[in-house]
Amino acid sequence: MPRTFDTPLPIDAVLDELARTLAGGNAAVLVAPPGAGKTTRVPLALLDAPWLKNRKIIVLEPRRIAARASAERMAHTLGERVGETVGYRVRFGSKVSRATRIELVTEGIFSRQILDDPELTGVAAVLFDEFHERSLDADLGLALARDAQVGLREDLRILVMSATLDGARVAKLLGDAPVIASEGRAFPVETRYLGRRADAPLERQMADAVAMALRADPGSVLVFLPGAAEIRRTQNFLGERVHDASIEIVPLFGALDAAVQDRAIAPARQGQRKVVLATSIAETSLTIEGVRIVVDSGVARVPRYEPDIGLTRLETVRASRAAVDQRRGRAGRTEPGVCYRLWDEPQTASLVAYTQPEILSADLSSLVLDLAQWGVSDPSALAFLDSPPAPALKEARSLLAELGALDGDGRITAEGKSLRALALPPRLARMIVDSHRLGAGEDAAEIAAVLTERGLGGDSVDLDARLDQFRRDRSQRASSARSLAHRWASQVAASEDSKAAVPSSLSSLAGESLPPTGSGGRGGGSPSTASIGATPTPEPSERCREHRDSVQPWQLLGCRWGCALAVVDQLG
Ligand SMILES: Nc1ncnc2c1ncn2[C@@H]1O[C@H](COP(=O)(O)OP(=O)(O)OP(=O)(O)O)[C@@H](O)[C@H]1O
Ligand SMILES: [Mg+2]
Repeated sequence: MPRTFDTPLPIDAVLDELARTLAGGNAAVLVAPPGAGKTTRVPLALLDAPWLKNRKIIVLEPRRIAARASAERMAHTLGERVGETVGYRVRFGSKVSRATRIELVTEGIFSRQILDDPELTGVAAVLFDEFHERSLDADLGLALARDAQVGLREDLRILVMSATLDGARVAKLLGDAPVIASEGRAFPVETRYLGRRADAPLERQMADAVAMALRADPGSVLVFLPGAAEIRRTQNFLGERVHDASIEIVPLFGALDAAVQDRAIAPARQGQRKVVLATSIAETSLTIEGVRIVVDSGVARVPRYEPDIGLTRLETVRASRAAVDQRRGRAGRTEPGVCYRLWDEPQTASLVAYTQPEILSADLSSLVLDLAQWGVSDPSALAFLDSPPAPALKEARSLLAELGALDGDGRITAEGKSLRALALPPRLARMIVDSHRLGAGEDAAEIAAVLTERGLGGDSVDLDARLDQFRRDRSQRASSARSLAHRWASQVAASEDSKAAVPSSLSSLAGESLPPTGSGGRGGGSPSTASIGATPTPEPSERCREHRDSVQPWQLLGCRWGCALAVVDQLG
């Protein structure tokens, strides 16, 4: 029997069935509406399972904020602090101890964990939460976990959870695992459609809607906007409309410090109301106490890889039906609520049902390298819900071969292993290694940090400016990123030092005229390192030839690795 809890939640009705299913089998799919209790109750309910045997339950969350907040909530439910029975591990920090039995981790952290230890020593169960988001790492994590379960760890429990998921498809992937569905809703949410005018900016209409919602109903408000820029503009418009000292307006997006994010999702102070202006990072997993109004722009920003130019950009699109339902669900978590939608009701039917899985449109070079590390050169050998597209695979393989990470048979090379060990997109890992050989490893590592942390160093398209700002930034996130960059550079230095003389592809490219180190000489009228913008990057070698007499090695990175420098569109 699973343990009982003081506060009843809708999911409680299926906990017995879930316990029985996982006692008798090793996989299950759990589908339950937003707010039912999947994230914060199910892991706790499994704590007394006989198969746990003092081992851990790993819970995958799509975002760091979700990992921290869910750990916080579960620890609170147990009357403990985070890091005791319940802990978390994310890129910039972890709170776990020997006593930890439930670990909330981001999906990327889990992929690395299982690649490094395919047997998942000490882990009894892996729970894939919010699986409908279908990030590349979640798909990879599930494929690897299933492979490990079939080949090495029959006793490993796999549970896939989601509010809006085609459960049958996932169940089939897991060897016809049982699907447990819970119908119980949290609280009712009334949906009101406001429509959207073509003649006024989105932010102005959103600010109008929020001001109206504040007048019409009590409670705090959660507002969904596509990105940080729209959040800032809406905040300005709202400042002109709302002059009430009891209303606090706070932004919430990925580029903010963890502590600032955690304050944004804390309940409003006594007698106060809160308006949280958020991107889709608040779409799943989070409960903000007191929020009973959601205002949804219906727009989302998603990454799209463009193979022709090797860039991933952020694209603004209509949110999927699954996403807008998740957003609405935030209004009914602690009491009945209301959701305003900035579109007309009939348009809801024309939204795509689900957000496109990342695997269908992403740069697959990391995935292919990870699979090679796993010993698989053909992804069809693994259980992917959607197969990685052949053209993207082909391109990833040829890039990895060019980077020296795969051999002619598609097997991972020793070089590939050290690149993978950096936990970076392979191009960026290669950039650090080659730069180290030119004496600019630390610079390159800082560039990699800026490029993999959205908004770090600001949002300038000039990388010089971004790096300068990053180096001056005293925030917690920036200093964690600097430590991480330093670790990458040291890791590369250690591994390179352990090798004998190494011929570098980059040194031959750079020619003899390059100075040996990357210090000094930055800017000074020489070409900007890279423009993270819209124009396709010229053939790297061509640009490098153009600049080879004037650039410093680290600037050369902008030529040789022009694509890498724009690996992630950091704007917005
Ligand atoms: N921090 C919190 N403060 C107050 N109540 C909370 C908090 N976290 C969770 N709850 C309560 O627990 C319920 C279940 O939350 P949980 O996040 O586990 O649901 P879920 O099924 O995972 O939802 P979703 O699909 O939206 O992620 C919420 O509806 C809310 O009533
Ligand atoms: Mg959840």
